[in-house]
Amino acid sequence: MLTSLQDLPHRKKDGPPLAVLTAYDYPLARLLDEAGVDLILVGDSLGMVVHGLPDTTGVTMEMMLHHLAAVRRGVVRAPVIGDLPYHSYRTPGVAAQNARRLVEAGADAVKLEGGADFVPQARAIIQAGIPFVGHIGMLPQSVREEGGYKKKGRTPEDAARLLADARALDDAGACAIVLESMMHDAAAVITRQVSASTIGIGAGPATDGQVLVTHDLIGAFPWFRPPFAKARADIAAECSRAAREFVRSCREPSGEKHG
Ligand code: KIV
Repeated sequence: MLTSLQDLPHRKKDGPPLAVLTAYDYPLARLLDEAGVDLILVGDSLGMVVHGLPDTTGVTMEMMLHHLAAVRRGVVRAPVIGDLPYHSYRTPGVAAQNARRLVEAGADAVKLEGGADFVPQARAIIQAGIPFVGHIGMLPQSVREEGGYKKKGRTPEDAARLLADARALDDAGACAIVLESMMHDAAAVITRQVSASTIGIGAGPATDGQVLVTHDLIGAFPWFRPPFAKARADIAAECSRAAREFVRSCREPSGEKHG
């Protein structure tokens, strides 16, 4: 079980692979920490699975700070990563300033979406003394510009660009890089060629770890689940069952007595 980001290089070298999950509130964060998850990500996916937004572009710094503070209260061991939301890192100065706010709310590291173009932001964050996590491949914050969620690394040129992005973030000092929805070969090559720990989501088995949105893992968001995310529980069905049972018990005069 990871207790410090400083152990990442050792885990990359000797394993076992990292198990990373998202959390957005106190109880879930506490359960994941107690279950031995290596890293907890307060991802801007919270915009979709908690706030019901159509994508992550409507997530604000205030939302991230609110959820980070709740997660922090639930975690005693696992390092917590906080996402910089859409448009919160337009310049290196703004990126460092907002990264500091995430750290003050409880993050141990911050993540932003983008490759070589965002190296100045990555460097500014690292110079501010904040561990930095990169995120390349399919970038949810770019869904509107790209016109949908598209798997990356399908052509040799695109795979080479992903590798160049990963190397640029690695050289800048990223401690980890999320590789999202890309061809498995591209993720495997990147993982071999960078010192940072790669954390895959829809990127195949050859990364240094795997991350999932916890709502996908536990079946808590039944209206959409990405094909690569295997649900290992059905919380939505259990919640509906309990709610229906409660409704029946309230309506049947001869049913359960309530306090
Ligand atoms: O926001 C998030 O949950 C993420 C993961 C999908 C990696 O960035």
